[in-house]
Amino acid sequence: MKRLALLGIALLLCGCEQKMTKMPRVDPLETSPLFADGAGTRVPVAGTIAADADIGPQPTALPAALDLELMQRGQQRFNIFCSPCHDYTGHGNGRVVQRGFPQPPDFHSARLIAAPDSHFFDVITHGYGTMFSYASRVPVSDRWAIIAYIRALQYSEHVPAGELTPDLKAKLAEAAP
Ligand code: HEC
Repeated sequence: MKRLALLGIALLLCGCEQKMTKMPRVDPLETSPLFADGAGTRVPVAGTIAADADIGPQPTALPAALDLELMQRGQQRFNIFCSPCHDYTGHGNGRVVQRGFPQPPDFHSARLIAAPDSHFFDVITHGYGTMFSYASRVPVSDRWAIIAYIRALQYSEHVPAGELTPDLKAKLAEAAP
């Protein structure tokens, strides 16, 4: 009698299968075959596009006017997103690096001074080695603003003496013995 009861319980439990695992469902970010339009019920969040969307050809050089406003925007975004590792001057000694993150290369190296703007755009967009992508945090227009600012940083340490303003020349003469 006991055995029969146990068997009965066992049979009952067999019926308690996790049916939801077998139900048709749409996984996150999956387009659904369940819906006629193939797009599922998810509506993309405003201002976003699918990671694999074809966004067409991208500019390879600064697409905006290079003015003070763009520069200041670039400085602000650089200080927020890049300085933790690349530091405020671009030498690659940011706080995170001081705490043990791999050191990025110096923006003032001959190689990165010679690198085209599109290389910087590419690195921000796709990441590079240990550096992750900033595509989701830095919109395209800000990437160009940051690149303009990095160019200014590079220039700031490599201004040919002849291009210095008179007061800077005076300061230089004062500083140099
Ligand atoms: C969390 C740290 C970190 C942050 C933040 C960061 N980077 Fe980097 N970056 C790195 C590291 C590390 C490398 C070197 C990666 C490698 O060579 O594997 C690197 C490399 C680079 C390079 C050089 C690629 C080359 O050709 O060698 C550029 C350019 C660059 N980063 C730009 C940026 C910009 C612009 C930002 C801000 C939007 C940024 N990085 C934010 C860590 C960071």
